[in-house]
Amino acid sequence: MKTRITELFNIEHPIIQGGMHFVGFAEMAAAVSNAGGLGIITALTQKTPEDLAKEIAKCQKLTDKPFGVNLTFLPSVTPPPYAEYIQVIIDSGVKAVETAGNNPSKWLPILKENNIKVIHKCTSVRHALKAEAIGCDAVSVDGFECGGHPGEDDVPNMILLPRAADELKIPFVASGGQADARSLVASLAMGAEGINMGTRFIATKEAPVHENVKKAIVAASELDTRLVMRPLRNTERVLTNANVERLLEIEKEKGADLKFEDVFEQVAGVYPRIMLDGDMDAGAWSCGMVAGLIHDIPTCKELIDGIMNESTAIIRKRLEGFLAG
Ligand SMILES: Cc1cc2nc3c(=O)[nH]c(=O)nc-3n(C[C@H](O)[C@H](O)[C@H](O)COP(=O)(O)O)c2cc1C
Repeated sequence: MKTRITELFNIEHPIIQGGMHFVGFAEMAAAVSNAGGLGIITALTQKTPEDLAKEIAKCQKLTDKPFGVNLTFLPSVTPPPYAEYIQVIIDSGVKAVETAGNNPSKWLPILKENNIKVIHKCTSVRHALKAEAIGCDAVSVDGFECGGHPGEDDVPNMILLPRAADELKIPFVASGGQADARSLVASLAMGAEGINMGTRFIATKEAPVHENVKKAIVAASELDTRLVMRPLRNTERVLTNANVERLLEIEKEKGADLKFEDVFEQVAGVYPRIMLDGDMDAGAWSCGMVAGLIHDIPTCKELIDGIMNESTAIIRKRLEGFLAG
């Protein structure tokens, strides 16, 4: 399939693996890229810029296909050394960056000077238009159903994607709730030129996370995610567990007075315990409603080939069949 996204990133299939904390290691990115999609290493999971350089080098050994690096710009009292992470990306020859969180305008000139394509992930049309205005090459439009941070507008993809299509000139991918060929064909119909998947890629053979995490996603239904940290305007969609329910109780007790310190235990530093140790009640970890559509743990190649083959069948048989009728 050829779209402006496959052309932009020089990939075979219009499928991107979104940056994921403690999931987006070299093994994950290489498996997606080897299967013809765009794999993404998550920069901030690497403690230092030197560690990121090593992770990129490892990925380059595992694949000769293009892959990217996610840079998440978080509000922080002591921000990570972003300039150094970016220098590592430039020096390593990586040609695709997924930015997320705060406006990446400060970093765009240096990325563009080095011929790096930038796709910015955002949860609203106004932020997507801003990304276009500051020179991003593409955007990843993240609907309310997404795993991770859906923003505070709560607009699901059935509305958000056609709205983005009406306003944007640069290409965009649909992110959030994407799992299979139906997702891809529907997203293309609504104006996207590809899809970005997070949760679906965690439940794959190559995802470098504990088996318990994959099993939890397969076991979960579309009713099992919760929105946490809404009172802090830092909403995150996570899979429910004992500690998430505790967090929601704390939110109820504190009401408008809630402070980050009140939920620190449930959210801070829990990713390694979940993703590496498989301690599924350790705290809040991002997971999309799309868990309800995930029933197996295929290889990335099986997953991506399946999506592409079935998409052809949906377009050629089901959709064209309606016209023929
Ligand atoms: C476990 C997990 C961790 C994530 N970590 C990040 C992150 O560090 N930075 C980021 O930009 N997005 C992060 N995301 C969001 C994904 O890149 C992607 O936008 C989202 O998962 C799409 O929704 P889906 O899960 O319904 O496919 C994360 C998602 C998950 C599930």
